[in-house]
Amino acid sequence: MCADPSEKCASRQELRRAWNYLKHRLKHLGLSRKAGLLKTRTECLHICDDAGPLLVVYPDNVWYQRCDPEAIERIIHEHLLNGRVVEELRCAAPICALAIACQIAANGAGESVIDVGPDAAAELSSRKPR
Ligand code: FES
Repeated sequence: MCADPSEKCASRQELRRAWNYLKHRLKHLGLSRKAGLLKTRTECLHICDDAGPLLVVYPDNVWYQRCDPEAIERIIHEHLLNGRVVEELRCAAPICALAIACQIAANGAGESVIDVGPDAAAELSSRKPR
């Protein structure tokens, strides 16, 4: 989860409130590293546009926006505990170096290893490895 605004995501207070909520709820539910869930906060994820706080669930590569405590509660129960993506809170995943690397690797294997959506896939296929 982003927790240190450097652009126009959310206020520092909103980010702190969201992070603290996530941290305490996961602890309360016993969702810890021992249980296979690692939480981490990061600086700006650089796709904020008044849509934060942002939360990313890996390895699913699902990006969530406007993660106030109510949204976080839904993400915990629907996605983390029951494996259902909360579409209403989802935002587009950015094209990142990892996605490009996966796509390049997949081209060699003849199949995609990630689902980046048709727009991102078209953009990825036009890029060349460095
Ligand atoms: S601070 Fe930029 S994505 Fe949240």
